Amino acid sequence: MRKQLKDFIEQIGKDAVAIIPAAHEQTRSYDTEFKFHQDPDFYYLTGFPEPDAIAVINPSNKKHPFTLFVRPRDPLMETWYGRREGTEGAKKNYGADKALPIEKFESELPKLLNGAEKLYYRFGVDTKLDQMILQYLSGQRFRRLKTAYPPHTIVDPTIILGEMRLHKTPEEVELMQKAGDIAAEAHVLAMQACKPGMNESQIEALIEHHFRMSGASGAAYNSIIGGGDNATILHYVENNAPLKDGDLLLIDAGCEYKGYASDITRTFPVNGRFTKPQREVYDVVLEVQIECIEATKKGNTVKQRQDLSIELLTEGMKKLGLLKGKTKDLIKKKEFMKYYMHGVGHYLGLDVHDAGRYFTEQQAKNSRPFAPGMVLTVEPGLYIPPDDKSAPSKYRGIGIRIEDDVLVTEEGNVNLTSKVTKDADEIEELMMKSLN
Ligand code: GLY
Ligand code: MN
Ligand code: MN
Repeated sequence: MRKQLKDFIEQIGKDAVAIIPAAHEQTRSYDTEFKFHQDPDFYYLTGFPEPDAIAVINPSNKKHPFTLFVRPRDPLMETWYGRREGTEGAKKNYGADKALPIEKFESELPKLLNGAEKLYYRFGVDTKLDQMILQYLSGQRFRRLKTAYPPHTIVDPTIILGEMRLHKTPEEVELMQKAGDIAAEAHVLAMQACKPGMNESQIEALIEHHFRMSGASGAAYNSIIGGGDNATILHYVENNAPLKDGDLLLIDAGCEYKGYASDITRTFPVNGRFTKPQREVYDVVLEVQIECIEATKKGNTVKQRQDLSIELLTEGMKKLGLLKGKTKDLIKKKEFMKYYMHGVGHYLGLDVHDAGRYFTEQQAKNSRPFAPGMVLTVEPGLYIPPDDKSAPSKYRGIGIRIEDDVLVTEEGNVNLTSKVTKDADEIEELMMKSLN
């Protein structure tokens, strides 16, 4: 049995049953679908890649602790829509102790839940399944519990799964390193290829081409390829503007490799040379990013790192003449948010904004201490709107973010995305070399 599933079984305990559904295909338009993406919790526990499946996990069922309901084999459907593992494949290739066609789930439900004290199930994601489960529970209530012993406590598995997913195993780290390497290579290729007159779309194509050529399933999120002012829009995804001589280009792009995401941002000059004002802002962000990587280690908390990024960037904004006043006051009045309006980083894993709590007790926002096995991004940035009359004119329209993926270890941390440089001189050197 898969280690993750074994651990989960141990955590939910003998008196519980868990129902964990796979994702469904989503309509894109009329009769076409978006590219399928498996539900990360389901994938984490089962590794099963198909839609419309349900895992039922019952630790006290000695013979069948892990049942998978799957789409049955169907030659006609498979000719039209692709291969299916079917019940045999679910057992043989994914370790299910028992596998049944998904159509059987509703009629099996009373049997599956009878006798369990607790049901682990997340309401509010799969409405059809919610209805099935509610109908079963209300049916039992109607019978005054005379004929069955349905679960009386319903627990959301989000916390248990989040805690498990937050602490990566060595095997998961290996996949994340690979995702980091592929994305880092793609960013290097983008730096080498970028020239004035190209379009953002061409850089996007080049990056995502490398992802697919390298064994990644694709981008882990919509790539952000923002030239000039577009870099000041945090989630700019149009990626269709010409790249101009003298502008910066911000690329936030990461791939998904065997389910695991990387998330890298680099900002560099379209023509290979930073202007003086661009370099001034760049070096402020870079210095903060390096300090925040250093702070991503055991002994610090998520909040300490966030506060550090705010303090250092606020001081940087003062140095650049973007803000005036005492650092303490500028922070208290949240003046810094005019140019730095997002968090310094997030958990990374099967989701780009990964599972796991950011605090250890209620009210203590972001109080969580870093622990070995966590992977977090480090991504400070400064974004100066093009029409910001209060900013020195030389800085208007500059947007800079630098983002790496960092694994917390016993000794400190490992940067999983160090294969693409962020040093301004080294970027210039790399870009100059590819011009010749
Ligand atoms: N690319 C999404 C993020 O950086 O959080
Ligand atoms: Mn990013
Ligand atoms: Mn990120």
